[in-house]
Amino acid sequence: MNTRVLTGITTSGTPHLGNYAGAMRPSIRASRQPGVDAFYFLADYHALIKCDDPRRVARSRLEIAATWIAAGLDHETVTFYRQSDIPEIPELCWMLSCVTAKGLMNRAHAYKGAVDQNVAREVEPDDGITMGLFSYPVLMAADILLFNAHKVPVGRDQIQHLEMTRDIAQRFNHLYGQGKDFFVLPEVQIDDEVATLPGLDGRKMSKSYDNTIPLFEGGAKALKAAVNRIVTDSREPGEPKDPDEAHLFTIYRAFAAPGETQAFRRELQDGLGWGEAKQRLYDRLESELGPMRDNYAELMANPGRVEDILQAGAAKARRLSQPFMEQLRAAVGLRITAAAAPAAAKPSAKSAKAARFVTFRDEDGGFRFRLLAADGSELLLSEPFSDAREAGAAIKHMQSTPFDELARAQSGIQVVVVGERTVASYAEDLAPAVKKALETLI
Ligand code: TRP
Repeated sequence: MNTRVLTGITTSGTPHLGNYAGAMRPSIRASRQPGVDAFYFLADYHALIKCDDPRRVARSRLEIAATWIAAGLDHETVTFYRQSDIPEIPELCWMLSCVTAKGLMNRAHAYKGAVDQNVAREVEPDDGITMGLFSYPVLMAADILLFNAHKVPVGRDQIQHLEMTRDIAQRFNHLYGQGKDFFVLPEVQIDDEVATLPGLDGRKMSKSYDNTIPLFEGGAKALKAAVNRIVTDSREPGEPKDPDEAHLFTIYRAFAAPGETQAFRRELQDGLGWGEAKQRLYDRLESELGPMRDNYAELMANPGRVEDILQAGAAKARRLSQPFMEQLRAAVGLRITAAAAPAAAKPSAKSAKAARFVTFRDEDGGFRFRLLAADGSELLLSEPFSDAREAGAAIKHMQSTPFDELARAQSGIQVVVVGERTVASYAEDLAPAVKKALETLI
C-alpha cells in the first residue's frame, strides 16, 4: 500500500520565500516520489481561529492555492483540496471532541501560552481565548485521521499536535473499534534537510519578525528590492568573506545546485563584493521564481480556474471521506435508519441461513442496499441511488464481477466503483467476509 502523506497550510497570510523553500517546495517534491499518495489542503477553518477579517481569509485562500499550483503541484496526482469543502472534517471533529479529554487540551502549548500571557497581564486566565483556539488540536486530528494519513510533514512546533492526534485516535479505536482500528496512528515527519530560511536580518524568516522576502507579491522588482536589503557585514569588495557567517549565502544555497554553491562559496572567500553577491542571489532566485510568477499572475487573474481545481480536489477527497464517515457514524451508533430497512443487526431465525442483499429507502428518499452476511451482520452499506433500477444494477454488478476486480483499496477501505461512480465501500478487514458472502450469491 502507498504511504499516505498529508499536510495542511493555514490560510491566514501571503506566502513568502521561506514558506516556499521550507514547506511548499519539499512537499511538491515529496508528492512526486513513487509509492506516495499526497494529500495537501488549505486549512481555512483553522484560519478562522487566527483571523476574523473575511477579506483576508478569502484572499489568502486564493493566494495560497494559486501559489501551490504555480509552484508546480500536480493537482491531478495529489489530492489537493480546501478543508471547508469537506463536511466530513467538522463532522469527525465533533465525534473526536466527544472522546477527547479536556485535560489533554489544557496541556496544548498554544493554549497554555495564551493563558500564561493572561496571567502575566493579571487578567482572567481565559481572557480572549476562544473555543476555536482551545479545540484547535481536535480539528487538526480530524484533518489527519479522516484520511488515515501515515506521515504528516510539519514544523517542530506541531509535534505536540501529532502526539495529541495519536492519543485521540487510540481512544476512538479503543472505544468503538471492537477489535479493529478505524484510525491509523499518524507519524510526524520533521525534515531536517529542509531549509529553514533566514530572513533579511538573519533570524528565521517570518512574518512576525517583518524580515521576509516576498515570493511572488510585487513582482521581480519587489524581489530585487528585498534582496538588496539583506543585512551583510561591512567588508569591502576585495576583502575575503566568510560564507558560513553570511545568511545571504544560506539563502543562495537553498536555491542552487551543489556545484554552483561551491563556486559561490569560493568567490566570496576570494573577495566578491556584497553588491555583486546580491546580484548573483537575485539572478538565481529569479530564474526559479520568474516562470512560476507568470503562472501565479495568470491564476490570480482567473480565480475560477483555481476554484475548478479545488472543487475537483474536494470531490476526489470526498470519494474517500464520505464512505469512511458512514462507517464511523455506524460505529458510534449513528447508522442511517430507514423505515423500510430491515434490521441489519437482528437476523430472524428463518433468514439466518444465507448472505443476502437487502434494499431500502433511506430518510432522504435515496435507494440503498446492504449486504448482510449469513449471520445477518452488515458487511456493507451502499451509497444512495436516485432510483431503484440503479441500485439494482449495482447489486447485479457486485454479484457478477470477479471479486478481485470488484473493489479498489483506498485508505484502508475497499471502494466498489461502477463506471465512474462509487457505489459502496467496506473496511479492508471485512474483505474475506464480503468475498464469502458474494460467493454464495452468484
Ligand atoms: N496546524 C498546522 C500549522 O499551523 C496547519 C494544519 C492544520 C495542519 N491541519 C493540519 C498540518 C493537518 C498538518 C496536518 O502549521
